[in-house]
Amino acid sequence: MKNSISNHSEIMLPRLKNLIFFLVFLISAVISTSSYHPLDSLTPSELNQTQTLVNDYFSSPPQNVRFHYVGLDEPEKSDVLSWQSSSHTQKIPSRRAFAIVRVNSKTHEVIVSLSNNSIISDEIYNGYGYPLLNFAEQLAAGNLTLSYPPFIASIQRRNLKLEEVVCLSFTVGWYAEIKSSRLVEVMCYYLNGTVNLYMRPIEGITATVDLDQMKIVAFRDRAVVPVPKAEGTDYRSNSSVQDLVKQVGPGFTLDGHVVRTFFDVGEYGFGLSTVTLEPLKDCPENATFMDGYITSQDGSPVLVPNIICIFERYAGDIMWRHTEAGIPGQMIREVRPEVSLVVRMVAAVGNYDYIVDWEFKESGSIKVSVGLTGLLEVRGTIYTNKDQIREEVYGPILAENTIGSNHDHFINFNLDLDVDGVANSFIKNNLQTVRALGNTSPRRSYWKVNSQTAKTESDARIQLGSGATELLVVNPNKKTKVGNFVGYRLIPGVITGPLLSSDDYPQIRGAFTKYNMWVTPYNKAEKWAAGLYTDQSHGDDGLPVWSLRNRKIENKDIVLWYTLGFHHVPCQEDFPVMPTLTGSFELRPTNFFERNPVLKPSQYATDPQI
Ligand code: MN
Ligand code: CU
Repeated sequence: MKNSISNHSEIMLPRLKNLIFFLVFLISAVISTSSYHPLDSLTPSELNQTQTLVNDYFSSPPQNVRFHYVGLDEPEKSDVLSWQSSSHTQKIPSRRAFAIVRVNSKTHEVIVSLSNNSIISDEIYNGYGYPLLNFAEQLAAGNLTLSYPPFIASIQRRNLKLEEVVCLSFTVGWYAEIKSSRLVEVMCYYLNGTVNLYMRPIEGITATVDLDQMKIVAFRDRAVVPVPKAEGTDYRSNSSVQDLVKQVGPGFTLDGHVVRTFFDVGEYGFGLSTVTLEPLKDCPENATFMDGYITSQDGSPVLVPNIICIFERYAGDIMWRHTEAGIPGQMIREVRPEVSLVVRMVAAVGNYDYIVDWEFKESGSIKVSVGLTGLLEVRGTIYTNKDQIREEVYGPILAENTIGSNHDHFINFNLDLDVDGVANSFIKNNLQTVRALGNTSPRRSYWKVNSQTAKTESDARIQLGSGATELLVVNPNKKTKVGNFVGYRLIPGVITGPLLSSDDYPQIRGAFTKYNMWVTPYNKAEKWAAGLYTDQSHGDDGLPVWSLRNRKIENKDIVLWYTLGFHHVPCQEDFPVMPTLTGSFELRPTNFFERNPVLKPSQYATDPQI
C-alpha cells in the first residue's frame, strides 16, 4: 500500500489537503503503480535490479543467495516533505531498496542504490531472531517429511494414505533455549475427502527441520490420536478444480501446551501473504483493482494480480440527517447518504484470512477495519463429546475429535499522523466527574475534560478500559479561528489487552500488546512493533524496547502505535469455516475543520482559512 494516503484524501476530502499522513501500515506488499511518489513500493524493474545487484555482489566466489525480504528503503522523511512541498516539481529523492538475504547461514542486510545501480552497504546481522520465512523453504520443509522413512512408518501405523497427507511448516517460537539455527516444526494434515486440511490435523507427529541445511534434525511420534472426520468440512461451493486454492502457507499449531506464538507479520510476512481478490465477491462491482508484486526466494518479482481493490461504498447508511418539525407551517427534511471510499486487501496467512479495509469518509473520518475469517486451527483429540472431558484441553470441543483452541489476535498499526504539519502533540482528554458545590444549581455533579499533553513516551503508554479518555493528536502550533488546536482523535474499537502473564515467552516477544496505545518520536528505523527479526526473537527489539528511552514527544514529529486485538474462544459456528469477525478503530477529525465539512462541501472549497 502506498504509504501516503494524501491522494485518496484529495479525492474524498478536499479539505484534508494539509493533513499529510504517513500511514506506514504493516504491509510489505509491493504495489504496482507508476513511480511518481517517493514512497511508492518498488516496481518490478526495481525488484529485478535489486536481485541482479545482490546476486552479482555475492557472486565471487559463487554463493547461494536466498531472499527473505525486499522492500523500499524509505527516503528521509524531510526529503519526502520537501519534494511534496515543491508541488512534486523537485527531483524525486533517490530510490533505494532494502534486502534481507541469507548467504552461508548468515543474515545480511543489504542496501541498494537504485538510482546509482550500486550496493550501498552490506551488514551481517548477528542479533537474536531470523528473517521472514519464504514460501519456497516452507514448502520444501513440508515435502521433506513426506519422503522421510520414519514419517512414512508413522503414517502407515495410523492406516492413512501418504498421498493424502499435506505437511506445513510452523515457526518454533522461543522459550529461553539457546538456538543457533533456523528451525521450523512440520505438522501434517489429512485431505482424503476434503480440502479443509486444517480440520484434519494428524496429531502426535512432529518433525523439526533446519531450513538452512534443509534437513530433518528431529522427529517424534508421541501417540496416535484419531484424525477428525472429513465429513461436512469441505467448503467449496462447487467441486471444480479451479476453486481449489490450496494455501501452502503455515498457520497456527499446538504442541502439547497452548501457546500463541505466531507472528504473522514478522515470521510469515503480511505483505507476502496478500492474495488476489475476486471481482464481485471480494469487492463490489464498482471496484477498481491494483496488481502487486512479491519477491520470491531467488529475488525475482512475482505478480499477484488484483491485490488491492478500491471502491466507493454506499451501503444505505445515513451520514447526516435532520427533520425539523418545530417551525409552524413547515416540515423540513434533509438527508445526506454516507458514501465513502474503501481500500481493501486480504492477507491469507495459512489458515487465517485477514481482510483489511481503510475507509475514507466525507466527514474527514478514516475507519480502519480488520476482518478475521478463513479456517480455525484445531487439535485432534480422543474425545467425541464435552461430557467425556475431565482434563484441561485449552479450548472447547467443536466436533467429534476436534478441539478449537482458545487464542488471541493482535494487529498493530504504526500511524504516523502529521496533522497539519509534522510537529504534533499527543493529548489525553480525561473525562472527570466533578462534585457541584454551592447553591446556584440543584445539580450535584457534572463532568469536565481534563487535558494532559504527553511530554515523554511514558506519558503516552495507555491501557484503555479504565475511565473515559479521548486520545488526540493535535498540532499545537495551529489553531482554528476560535482558538482550538487542530487535531485528529483515535477512537478505539473493542478494547483488548493480553491475558498471558508478562514473563511468558510469547508475551515477552509480543510485549507491544501490553499497552493499547504507544507514542514514539518518528524514527525511520522503528517500523515493526515486534522487531525486525521476529522468527525466534527474544523480545530485545521492538516498540517496548525503543520506548524505554522515554524520549520527548511534545511538539515533535510523532507516531501512534495502536493495537487492535481479539480474544477468540471458538464456537461450533466457527467449524468448519469461520464467519468473518471484524474489529475496527477510527481516526476522526477533532477541531480540524472550522465546521462540519459534510454540509455543502462546495461552499467551503474557496474558504482560504481552512
Ligand atoms: Mn508524525
Ligand atoms: Cu482466531
